[in-house]
Amino acid sequence: MDYTSILTEVRGRVGIVTLNRPQAMNAFNTTMVTELFDALEAFDKDENIGVLIVTGSEKAFAAGADIKEMAGASPFEMITQGRVEQWDRIRGIKKVIIAAVSGWALGGGCEFAISCDMIIASESAKFGQPEITIGVIPGAGGTQRLARLLGKNLTMEMVINNRTLTAAEALHFGLANRVVPVEGYLDTAVAFAEEIAARAPLATRMAKDAVNAAFETTLAEGLKAEKRNFYPLFSTEDQKEGMQAFIEKRKPNWKGK
Ligand code: CAA
Repeated sequence: MDYTSILTEVRGRVGIVTLNRPQAMNAFNTTMVTELFDALEAFDKDENIGVLIVTGSEKAFAAGADIKEMAGASPFEMITQGRVEQWDRIRGIKKVIIAAVSGWALGGGCEFAISCDMIIASESAKFGQPEITIGVIPGAGGTQRLARLLGKNLTMEMVINNRTLTAAEALHFGLANRVVPVEGYLDTAVAFAEEIAARAPLATRMAKDAVNAAFETTLAEGLKAEKRNFYPLFSTEDQKEGMQAFIEKRKPNWKGK
């Protein structure tokens, strides 16, 4: 594919999308959003890929939606162009997505990172929702996903008073999985992704789906969703192999079947 605003790369079983609009701190214009989700969906279908990573530059993961592109828009244009609806495409990705975040993750950049399944942050990462400073509010899930991740009070502070979280705070509050040195942060994220890509693929998908159900529903419905994902795994070759390998004290050989 000829992308203009992202780069794609495959390392082993990890598909990497790099946001690449350095002139705009990787702000998401329409082209970059479309290319990002096209690339993620292509990696999701590719059976040689186990896990996806989205990253930016050391200085900026992404500084949010492109303010210059949307500054003059009317509500009707925003609605008909589906400016934020596109972002929901992330919900259709079945493989694990890791955000490797360094520098600014602001507005839509923060919202995208927290829409991923896990976050590896470099020591320079900063997360925030500064939309209030430009007279709007988050539109790509920030109020909802942050509230679920961080609780009400801190989310209120971020959304209403532009509180930014450092990498250390993000780790402390459970927004980031790990904080790693800036130098080599992507290599560290790839090593983490490789670990996950080496696990039983069908169980990994079912696990992601089950955990996500926790954010959508009641406990009773969530427990049903978990069982719906648990039982069918007993029809897979990988379940037989995994349990047999445990009994025989050897490493399992996953087939993804
Ligand atoms: N949109 C468009 N252009 C942007 C941008 C954005 N979100 N963020 C940065 N840029 C551009 C700047 O305009 C600047 O371009 P010029 O050189 O042509 O002037 C270039 O990127 C470099 O930026 P700065 O000079 O501002 O760099 P800095 O190091 O001084 O500051 C920053 C970096 C703190 C990230 C700052 O650029 C900033 O605050 N950006 C805006 C952040 C923001 O408000 N994001 C929310 C957007 S709305 C949104 O995301 C809605 C939603 O929910 C989907």
